Amino acid sequence: MKCLLVADIHYDLRKFDWVVEMAPLVDLVVLAGDHLEIASMVARPDQAVIAQKYFRRIREKAPLLLCSGNHDLDVKDGNGELTARWLGNARFLDIPTDGDSHQIGDTLFTLCPWWDGEGVKAAIAAQIARDAERRPARWVWVHHAPPDGSPTSWGGHRSYGDVTVRGWIEAYQPDIVLSGHVHQSPFVANGSWADRLGRTWIFNAGHQVGPIPSHVVVDTEGPQAYWLSLTAAESAMLDAPLARPLPPLREPPEWLASMARQGARRLA
Ligand SMILES: [Fe+2]
Repeated sequence: MKCLLVADIHYDLRKFDWVVEMAPLVDLVVLAGDHLEIASMVARPDQAVIAQKYFRRIREKAPLLLCSGNHDLDVKDGNGELTARWLGNARFLDIPTDGDSHQIGDTLFTLCPWWDGEGVKAAIAAQIARDAERRPARWVWVHHAPPDGSPTSWGGHRSYGDVTVRGWIEAYQPDIVLSGHVHQSPFVANGSWADRLGRTWIFNAGHQVGPIPSHVVVDTEGPQAYWLSLTAAESAMLDAPLARPLPPLREPPEWLASMARQGARRLA
């Protein structure tokens, strides 16, 4: 399975367009939160309408999984905690999202909402505990914030990660956690797009300017993960211990090179 991870689109429609273009070239697209942008001139309810149209266009070409980020929260729940209620409409488009657990082949995806308080946090803990009971060959979490104390959450001066999710990862050791949130992590000293906590791989593609989002492609058959950005392209072997620095990607497989070519053609 070739899984494209993008997060932190922040209502940059050029980046949504790129994902639409790439979707037919992979087996699965994961958008790991911050689809919308709080500081935009466009009101967020209007952004949400456009984002849903993009979700539909992506879903027409590939399976799509979503989770919310801190920029996506629109409504307080019964406990007064902010949630991304609008994102739930994606289910009508056959797109699993916050709070859903979705199995594709031998891989179970646990899609975690952004938690704003103890109620949602407890719901995520319960969801993870439930999914642990039926854990298949591969277990993947989608959670906007990467774990605290990881290069994937390093902001250059301190970690911006989630202490709670780190505890969950240490306790359950999922195979992979797909995240975003800390835009600069892959681009700063001591930061990275990839990390390993015990047996768990953690990925954060980061955020870059321009029409092409920095992105990670996980190829579970490889098994290998690739990070492509304006500044560098790197890879990691998933069945080997993590060794830093991660090697630059000098000879991408043909399918990955083809993705890059198609993406670049759009801009020509
Ligand atoms: Fe973000």
